[in-house]
Amino acid sequence: MSVEVQVKRQSAPAIRARKGGVPIVALTAYSALTARLVDAVADLILVGDSLAMVEHGLPSTLGATLDMMILHGASVVRGSARAQVVVDLPFGSYEESPAVAFRNAARLMAETGCGAVKLEGGARMAETIGFLTGRGIPVMAHVGLTPQAVMSFGGFKTQGRERAEWEAIERDAQAVAEAGAYAVVLEGVVEPLAARITETLDIPTIGIGASATCDGQILVLEDMLGLSPRVPRFVHRYGALADHAAEAIASYAQAVRDRSFPGPDNVYQPKN
Ligand code: KIV
Repeated sequence: MSVEVQVKRQSAPAIRARKGGVPIVALTAYSALTARLVDAVADLILVGDSLAMVEHGLPSTLGATLDMMILHGASVVRGSARAQVVVDLPFGSYEESPAVAFRNAARLMAETGCGAVKLEGGARMAETIGFLTGRGIPVMAHVGLTPQAVMSFGGFKTQGRERAEWEAIERDAQAVAEAGAYAVVLEGVVEPLAARITETLDIPTIGIGASATCDGQILVLEDMLGLSPRVPRFVHRYGALADHAAEAIASYAQAVRDRSFPGPDNVYQPKN
């Protein structure tokens, strides 16, 4: 007799309940193949708009479109079973009004099967976060260094280096929590400020370039695997996949050129 084991996905309330507990493990993934690897260990998979740069070679995240996010989001949902899948609302799909944000977030949820959406911005997005969460869409917020605002920041700049900046960043984090976000990404924020926000906020903080005291951590998968050619200082490379891949590709090229591939095991023979 076979017993079917029902695997339950992590939900927004389950992630929310992790505040102050065992750190939340989060990574990005953009495809079913990588989602399967990440799903084996992570609590949360983010289909980040960083895919515009990492997967599509664009210069910033500003080129990500809703259609791109849906295509990759649906693939990641199909490749995973346990982790919560969160999909980024891309630049231009939610800032105009809460109603526009709802329409696009609802499309993301319906067409990918994801468990939540993420959007960038603090106090200025509070009304939109309240509008979405009040209508059944779990929202993860993202404050500090928000890459969609790279043109306004004048580059990817660490936030809070000046003490005078702290109050506004803390206000942003508080505003998204009060508006109903179930978790917030703190990106590129000086360590003591990230620790202070984590201590005061009653929702989990997920750090990237922030602090080990955050309630969880997230990295871009290709960065931590050592596939990305350049990575920021806050990334630790846990692998050297680009080197392994380059070696494998070179071996293949050599084998094709000297006709050792395909070998006897890689070809088909007639039955008789
Ligand atoms: O787009 C992304 O990958 C992100 C993470 C870096 C947090 O937003």
